[in-house]
Order: sequence, then structure tokens, then C-alpha cells
Amino acid sequence: MHARAVATLATALAAAGDLFLPVSQTRAADAQHPQPVVVAQRRPQPVIVAHRGASAHAPENTLPAVDKAAALGFSWVENDVQRTKDGELVVVHDTTLKRTTNVERIFPGRAPWKVKDFTAAEIARLDAGSWFSPAFAGTRVPTLDQYLRRIEHNHEKLLLEIKNPELYPGIEAQTLKVLANDGWLDHRHLADRLIVQSFSADSVRAVHRLKPAIRTAYLGHPDTAELRRYATFVDLINPSYPTLSADYVAAVHAHRGPHGAPLRVFAWTVDDASGARTGAGYGVDGVITNKPDVVRAALKAV
Ligand code: G3P
Ligand code: CA
Repeated sequence: MHARAVATLATALAAAGDLFLPVSQTRAADAQHPQPVVVAQRRPQPVIVAHRGASAHAPENTLPAVDKAAALGFSWVENDVQRTKDGELVVVHDTTLKRTTNVERIFPGRAPWKVKDFTAAEIARLDAGSWFSPAFAGTRVPTLDQYLRRIEHNHEKLLLEIKNPELYPGIEAQTLKVLANDGWLDHRHLADRLIVQSFSADSVRAVHRLKPAIRTAYLGHPDTAELRRYATFVDLINPSYPTLSADYVAAVHAHRGPHGAPLRVFAWTVDDASGARTGAGYGVDGVITNKPDVVRAALKAV
């Protein structure tokens, strides 16, 4: 094989999702007819994403949770974005405020305490930390704007989930507006610091249409026959870990997304060492976890 062919193969392998780190070598034994070979090295370790921030260590989807992720040395954080009654985007996971705030005590007559039934000013009064630990008393539900400013300050990267988009018509365009206003749609952020995901394929497709440069992910496990269609508007397929297999990961990797790179796979939610190792063995590109420190230790040991 000629050197140029080797270089082409190396490039192709690299483009195949960094699954291999190609190294070309020339056997010295036959100087007249050098025989370059490609050595496939170990694939890179999966990216570790702190799910809802470092949510095993601090209340989920709060500023302390992203501060904790940064303090532990993790770049990527995941969050969930919803909308208040008066149109503010806030970072909170459940459809209601009941589990992660003291809303029942502050607004006793307002069951079932849906996010969409409260104004931003009302939500700003809630304690989103005490349920987790008294050490976090007084922590607030952040607006998306507050959250983006904090993770920018922390030099973090964001896997942003549009949660329950069917409840919030137009949330995709509104989310992009906040991202743009906070400087998150410039070239630097688009290249390596932002992925937008949802369980709703329609929502992800809307984000892709509104801003094709954004990397997007579909949360779920489409049939392999459907992957070609998904690859027209997503860059990643993010399935729940128990649904995964090495074959499925390979099937996803075989498709190229809208930005020309092979589709990636970030698996969720993996909080134990054996799951992290198994997922890495399947070839996943990312592990979404409440316990990023546990996953890091497990993968280091591989
Ligand atoms: O990022 C994956 C994960 O967040 C999806 O599930 O319910 O935790 O938002 P959920
Ligand atoms: Ca989420």
C-alpha cells in the first residue's frame, strides 16, 4: 500500500468516529518495498456528562450542581429546560415543582404545582436545595439565562434537553434565542460546547431546521431501519443504557449525521462502575451520569 493510500485510510478511520487512532508505520525489513501498516489503537474513553449537573453531590439542575461538576473536573453538564407561565425558560426536570422544591409549603393551594402554572417571580421564591440537603438551603431554580452565564463562567459544555416540548409551543425558537443572547451560538460554542437534545424527534428536528449548525441528539432507541432518517437531523442517538448493545452502537456509528461525522452515542443514566465499563466496551462515545466521579474511576481502571 502506498503512503498516500495509508494516509487516506487513516483519515477515513479517524472520520469513522475516532473509534481508532490510526498510526502508520513502515516496516524496515524491506527498504525496497516498504510495507506501511495501520495499527488500530484503543478507542478513546467516552466523554463523561454530569447528568443534571453533579446531581449525586448537589441538588439537580441548580447552580451548585454545575459548580460541583466543574470542581470535580468535568466539562460536560446536562440539564432540562421548561417554561414558566409568563414565558421565562427555567432549568428543572419534572413537569411539576413538587419533588425538587418547597412549592407545596409556599403555595399550598396550587396543586398540582406544574412549572407552566407558576410565574418566574413565584418560582424564584422557591427553595430548590433543602429537599436534597440542609447544606443547600436557599438554592434557587435557575433561569436558563442564569444557568448559561454560570456554566460559561465555569468554562463548561452543555447537553441541553428541551423537556416536555409538547407543553411549550415554540420553546425551540425561544431556547435558541436565549442561547444566542448569551453567546452560546457563536462558532466556538457550536464547535465543541453545545448539544441540544430531546425525547421528541419533532422538537429536535425543529432545532435543526432553525439553526442547522447546532449539534443535536435524539433521546431514545430508534429501530436500526430508522437510523438513516434520524441521521438527516441528529448528530447523536442517546439511548437509555439498558436498551444498548455493541451491535446497536455499531449500527448507529455506521451513519453520518448532518455535519458529515458518524453519529455518536451517549448512554444514560449510568451510575455504577460495571455499567460504565460495559458501556465503554459497547463503544459508546459518552456516558451520562449522576456520579461522574464513579464513572471516571471505573473507566480509568479499564
Ligand atoms: O440526558 C439523558 C437523560 O436526561 C434523559 O432522561 O428523565 O433524566 O431527563 P431524564
Ligand atoms: Ca434530562
